[in-house]
Amino acid sequence: MAKSAKRVLLLNGPNLNLLGEREPEIYGTTTLADHVASATQAATDAGLAVDSAQSNSSSELVNAIHAARTTHDAIVINPGAFTHYAWSIHDALAAFSGPVIEVHISNVHAREAFRHQSFIAPNAKGVIAGFGLKSYDLAIESFL
Ligand code: DQA
Repeated sequence: MAKSAKRVLLLNGPNLNLLGEREPEIYGTTTLADHVASATQAATDAGLAVDSAQSNSSSELVNAIHAARTTHDAIVINPGAFTHYAWSIHDALAAFSGPVIEVHISNVHAREAFRHQSFIAPNAKGVIAGFGLKSYDLAIESFL
């Protein structure tokens, strides 16, 4: 591993609890539980441990990032719509010293203009967007 990333926190933001039902033409029919299970398997295969959480609240995501400062080596985050306006998540990630990977299931750059800007990317080691079911697995693989 290029960087120490033994324990990974997988965070999902607003509306991602509805994956599988929500706009399936954009996000597919895979549920969040399926995405997390797939990423967890990829992590286990790689010798990494994954904890995951989803919240529709930016303050809960900020609190989870703060807690991860002492418990986790890396963060994979799909901030959902918070990507495009949440300075609070930007600042929380700036206080996290390990690698952060930003993930989007859809290719945000091929969608509406408001999705082209990310307030998370400046604090991310990398951004993965548009690979659907594989997106979270690719984020995990990036730590290898
Ligand atoms: C998303 C893209 C965001 O623009 C959107 O608000 C989401 C999901 C994605 O995974 O493609 O909720 O983060």
